[in-house]
Amino acid sequence: MSLKKFLLSIFIIIIINIISSISCDRSTNLQENTLEDFVDEASGTGYDSQAYPSYWSMIDDSKDLIEQSTDDVLTLKSSDQVAVTTVSVHDFGAKGDGETDDTEAFVKAWKVACSSKNAAVLVVPQKIYWLKPIRFSGPCLSQLMVQIVGTLEASDDRSDFRQDGKHWLIFDSVRKLLLDGGGTINGNGKEWWQNSCKINKSKALAFYKCKDLIVKNLKIQDAQQIHLSFQKCMNVLASNLSITAPEKSPNTDGIHVTNTQDILITTSIISTGDDCISIVSGSEKVQAMNITCGPGHGISIGSLGSGKSEAYVSEVALYGAKLIGTTNGVRIKTWQGGSGSANNITFENIEMLDVTNPILIDQYYCDSKKPCKEQKSAVQVQNVLYKNIKGTSASDVAIKFDCSKNFPCQGIVLQDIKLEHGGGKTAKALCNNINFTSIGVVSPLCYQAKL
Ligand SMILES: *[C@@H]1O[C@H](CO)[C@@H](O)[C@H](O)[C@H]1NC(C)=O
Ligand SMILES: *[C@@H]1O[C@H](CO)[C@@H](O)[C@H](O)[C@H]1NC(C)=O
Ligand SMILES: *[C@@H]1O[C@H](CO)[C@@H](O)[C@H](O)[C@H]1NC(C)=O
Ligand SMILES: *[C@@H]1O[C@H](CO)[C@@H](O)[C@H](O)[C@H]1NC(C)=O
Ligand SMILES: *[C@@H]1O[C@H](CO)[C@@H](O)[C@H](O)[C@H]1NC(C)=O
Repeated sequence: MSLKKFLLSIFIIIIINIISSISCDRSTNLQENTLEDFVDEASGTGYDSQAYPSYWSMIDDSKDLIEQSTDDVLTLKSSDQVAVTTVSVHDFGAKGDGETDDTEAFVKAWKVACSSKNAAVLVVPQKIYWLKPIRFSGPCLSQLMVQIVGTLEASDDRSDFRQDGKHWLIFDSVRKLLLDGGGTINGNGKEWWQNSCKINKSKALAFYKCKDLIVKNLKIQDAQQIHLSFQKCMNVLASNLSITAPEKSPNTDGIHVTNTQDILITTSIISTGDDCISIVSGSEKVQAMNITCGPGHGISIGSLGSGKSEAYVSEVALYGAKLIGTTNGVRIKTWQGGSGSANNITFENIEMLDVTNPILIDQYYCDSKKPCKEQKSAVQVQNVLYKNIKGTSASDVAIKFDCSKNFPCQGIVLQDIKLEHGGGKTAKALCNNINFTSIGVVSPLCYQAKL
């Protein structure tokens, strides 16, 4: 309930901000800080390093934090008048007819909004805007809200992506940014899926080096490849997102987190052709709550350590998820030959429905044409808690720990696990090179533990 209250209050504050921005004289300078405070307070949810004294107690702490931040948001004085500069893409010639190239207008509108001394709201009205790749660069002079009510639709001409094949819309080095509005971001990716290429995955909506960022109440669909990416960002809230692409669209990850610290992903529905959420190297303090995932490849940490690289991921927690018909449930995948660690990870309160590999650690991950040989080094997987995970497996192996011979998995805890084989057969657990503790009823349990 507290999460609902929290989201509702954010919504109310935004409405108030919009109304006051419309009724405000653009040139008046009454009180500059309210929107900024709002972004500060709201994005503070769950990011306090105090929230992570130990990964075992994270769930209680995060509940408290959300409760606390609800109160913070509610105590903001809603009657404060805010000096907000409102910029519409139509002020710069956007047509919004779904055919005209509106790229120029967006670039110009961004420049004005980003150089505004007051808080600025960049409005995208309820129309359809055809866009080539755009880089929204910061730093900006003030806090910014991008209110997407309409639909942004990507050019489907791949030659438009010649300059930067890796992004469609990228926000680069922006601080205190809020993307919101209930609109749709449509990557129009059909052309891409037919010519799928794994190198340098393209991202529909990307945030690079952003700080104090909220992305919420948006639909993101049919991305070229990755739908939403956070790279080298800090202090992020991603909430109430609906991310969809066909099950057969290749490489269309939902949310990709890389080199990012303090991020909360919550109350989102993700169904795509690849991982719902993928968390890769350099990511720390990543929380995901109330996620519905499927179809897709599930929720993954990794892959880590490809090409003998060093990878570190720590303090990742998934609390409350429903996985439906996915190929994997919660997965950690690492390559042979890598180094570093995946440490302090919690998967808790998870419902699996017809998931092919519900619980999986794969330290022999190999996604290349050539077979991968066993190597001396591997990314160390350590301190992973699986708690209260129930449901059905679509295969007879419900739990598979295939840990590295030279770097066995350590500190693995299984608590209250009940996974059944959907087809009526007995579900199995396979364990290699792992030392684990079980608490409560754990079913299935490993019949094979080599160490
Ligand atoms: C993992 O958690 C333990 C216990 O809270 C802590 O001492 C350790 O520093 C953490 N390790 C990482 C890499 O976060
Ligand atoms: C992929 O990205 C790297 C680094 O930006 C670049 O050097 C390389 O040429 C790109 N490869 C392709 C196939 O675009
Ligand atoms: C979630 O986002 C959708 C738009 O995608 C919006 O219609 C809905 O009101 C939002 N829900 C909440 C609780 O804000
Ligand atoms: C969880 O997410 C679903 C779907 O996005 C939403 O309808 C529901 O209200 C959320 N629950 C909580 C407790 O926020
Ligand atoms: C397995 O883990 C327990 C608890 O951490 C430890 O006491 C024990 O020595 C470990 N056994 C092996 C063979 O590593």
